[in-house]
Amino acid sequence: MSAKLLVAALSSVALAAPFDGMVEERGSPTTKAPATTVLAARGTAAWSGNPFSGVNMWANSYYASEVSASAVPTLGAGAEAVAKVPSFMWLDTRDKVDLMGSTLKDIQAANAGGASPPNAGIFVVYDLPDRDCAAAASNGEYSIADGGVDKYKAYIDAIVEQVKAYPDILMLLVIEPDSLANMITNLNVAKCSNAQDAYMECTQYAIKNLNLPNVAMYLDAGHAGWLGWPANLAPAAKLYAQLYNDTGSPAALRGLATNVANYNAWEIATCPSYTQGNDNCDESKYVNAMAPLLSAAGWDAHFITDTSRNGKQPTSQQQWGDWCNVIDTGFGTRPSADTGSDLLDAFVWVKPGGECDGTSNTTAARYDYHCGSADALQPAPEAGSWFEAYFEQLYKNANPPF
Ligand code: GLC
Repeated sequence: MSAKLLVAALSSVALAAPFDGMVEERGSPTTKAPATTVLAARGTAAWSGNPFSGVNMWANSYYASEVSASAVPTLGAGAEAVAKVPSFMWLDTRDKVDLMGSTLKDIQAANAGGASPPNAGIFVVYDLPDRDCAAAASNGEYSIADGGVDKYKAYIDAIVEQVKAYPDILMLLVIEPDSLANMITNLNVAKCSNAQDAYMECTQYAIKNLNLPNVAMYLDAGHAGWLGWPANLAPAAKLYAQLYNDTGSPAALRGLATNVANYNAWEIATCPSYTQGNDNCDESKYVNAMAPLLSAAGWDAHFITDTSRNGKQPTSQQQWGDWCNVIDTGFGTRPSADTGSDLLDAFVWVKPGGECDGTSNTTAARYDYHCGSADALQPAPEAGSWFEAYFEQLYKNANPPF
């Protein structure tokens, strides 16, 4: 522990001292410290129950700088409100792990300044070798043929190092969007079947090594229109529960993340036509269908759902599987642990609104035809880079509005 960290820890012990022990409640209800604060005062942001309750998700400065550089000049200062909503930071390259470090420094400074509730880091682990095996838009930096499994393990090691350097900060992690869902439905794609062993080995490595007291992890589980189909639910539950059991029922593996970078409603009264007769046409129905299957297989998993782009319902998707820069979408329910569902730990903004899903340039190496379809906003830049027109669409259609 660095000297600076020690000082911060000691001063917060002093502040939290009246509540230490967690048995007797002193002070007025407004000064009652949540359990996580008390634990954080001892130097470890350990958690029990819902890891999102009693913490504030951190709105990182990377996303804020994207918004202020591009959106504010066009839309005015009102757009700054979007950057204050916490969006996850995607560790989509090894370099981004260094950015994670500076974000954690920011959080540490804010928490040492007495932030109440304390801030937690929100990150997406996303760098598998042969990433995005069923699509082209988000190909990553590592390939299996070129030592990608070992490189991935080094990437995880670097994240672990950051997590251990800040034991007083709770890290809420989404693990590898799309990867395991592809193992359920896309093994007919050569790149996916070829990647199967590597994905499993790498995911297990991530889970085991990130199983730390100040971590809560959620494995990505696609969405209602992907694994929510009756034929996919049972095999998906089997795979997720098997990973949980095979990695030794890790305490830090809390559950599954759904709807990441997608557009489905949490609850919708009438199933939109593009949901094609699947009764599980919203995320609530999907989660409620999946949970009992996981429990039966030995895992009482909890869920988080991405609401960053599901504010406008129904969307203008022509097919439910259209995932790229879909038109007529808007920012959705703000991140919160107040969900009204025991299964759902939090509404979260995993996809940073305004970052592109994939280029519409047909000559680009990462061109995917979904990004050129009639319901995809165009012209679109490369995946992950800023797509100003898309941000403006989300902002205009935000529900609740900004
Ligand atoms: C896409 C991009 C990735 C980016 C993420 C979040 O998956 O490929 O680079 O970080 O979206 O915007």
